[in-house]
Amino acid sequence: MKLLMAANWKMFKKLDEAARSARDLAALVKNLPPDREVVLFTPFTTLRACFEALSSAGAQSLVQLGGQNCYPAREGAFTGEISPDMLLDCGCAHVLVGHSERRALFAESDDFIGKKCAFALSSGLKVMLCIGETLGERDGAMLRPVLERQLAEGLAGVPDAVPAENLAIAYEPVWAIGTGRVATPPDILGAHALIRSFLKRRFPTQGDELRILYGGSVKPENAPEIISLDNVNGVLVGGASLQADSFSRIVFAGHRS
Ligand code: PGA
Repeated sequence: MKLLMAANWKMFKKLDEAARSARDLAALVKNLPPDREVVLFTPFTTLRACFEALSSAGAQSLVQLGGQNCYPAREGAFTGEISPDMLLDCGCAHVLVGHSERRALFAESDDFIGKKCAFALSSGLKVMLCIGETLGERDGAMLRPVLERQLAEGLAGVPDAVPAENLAIAYEPVWAIGTGRVATPPDILGAHALIRSFLKRRFPTQGDELRILYGGSVKPENAPEIISLDNVNGVLVGGASLQADSFSRIVFAGHRS
């Protein structure tokens, strides 16, 4: 199983800066270890520019692209939305679904997230489903029911035979996102073990091979330890992914050359 090292640029970077960052990253990861994959989730408006920058650097197989959201329909009267087909058309192979900012700021429900997940997969995109608890839920001993509900509903329409490389789960405790407060190794181990056991029940043949990423204040300094933990198969990085240099150090975290 390859480690999946993913960058979430959120609502940062205009065209020139995005293309420059993609080019810089392509140069920094040209000796990418064969056990890793890199994905950039960039703003919609910059996807095509990033695709062209990566293509002209000959790096489109090294650094893949993804959208940060999509709408579960091929086309239609959905003002302001973007379809999986449109993401594919821009050169994307991936899409992020259910990020906690979308759940909290745009009131996305588990049911709606589940529809996006199933539709994006059936359209040919690889899906990264984000889940995670708030501090109140963790303190209220609700970690397991919250994660299991988000997984059950988020994956409700996913075919049982989904290929393992097409689906990843990103565990991002809401209290660790953009706060500088990273979850401790026991926090991460516990949540990832719980997610793994759910995935094995839900997908008996390939639940062991689905990648589970950790996200929330990942930095070059803490990435090697995080990546070494059981059931951590990659990271999803926000703030520290905006600079190509800092993200490339995370991409190589723990790698012995
Ligand atoms: P952060 O964001 O690395 O800035 O905490 C992670 C995310 O929101 O995906």
